[in-house]
Amino acid sequence: MGQPLITLHDKAFQPYLSAAEIATAIDQVALRLNADYAGRQPLFVVVLTGGFMFATDLLKRFTGNCEIVFIRVASYEGTGSTGQVQEIMGLREDVQGRDIILVEDIVDTGTTLNHLLPTLQANKPASIEIAAMFFKPASLRYQLDLKYIALEIPNDFVVGYGLDYDGLGRNLPDVYVAV
Ligand code: XMP
Ligand code: MG
Repeated sequence: MGQPLITLHDKAFQPYLSAAEIATAIDQVALRLNADYAGRQPLFVVVLTGGFMFATDLLKRFTGNCEIVFIRVASYEGTGSTGQVQEIMGLREDVQGRDIILVEDIVDTGTTLNHLLPTLQANKPASIEIAAMFFKPASLRYQLDLKYIALEIPNDFVVGYGLDYDGLGRNLPDVYVAV
């Protein structure tokens, strides 16, 4: 017997990844970050809204000193990327000379990162890497170096674990896929 479907707005979703599978994948990313950033003091730039849950779990596993700031962007409407990025809440911190780690919920087309990276780079950080919970390789439209990916997923619309369908589903500890 399959697990029950959930409904958000007009759409049904089926279970896709459990909270336990997600946690195991985050453990692996955290191990790498802890090794790579030992003795440094990175500035984690968390991309809201979807990145909040991944950031919380990832950063609890980061053992070194670090700073954490938030920016907010939006590019999605419903289940499709609009191809345009709206910067809703910008970054005020000085990033010059800092080791930046951008924390994203999901890299889909790459539009969001393709927009954010040049803006950050213009402020001369020492380094910029990307940490994302999910990556849809089949949907990427830009050349991006994605160093810290927790899980690769197919090009399907998913919700849960910070990700929403028109505002709903972000609180779900598991990830669901549209049926
Ligand atoms: P891009 O295309 O800019 O997408 O790489 C990044 C942002 O789009 C949202 N996104 C999703 N949201 N389920 C969601 O709930 C998905 O499958 C999905 N794919 C992309 C998300 O906000 C992400 O930061
Ligand atoms: Mg969204």
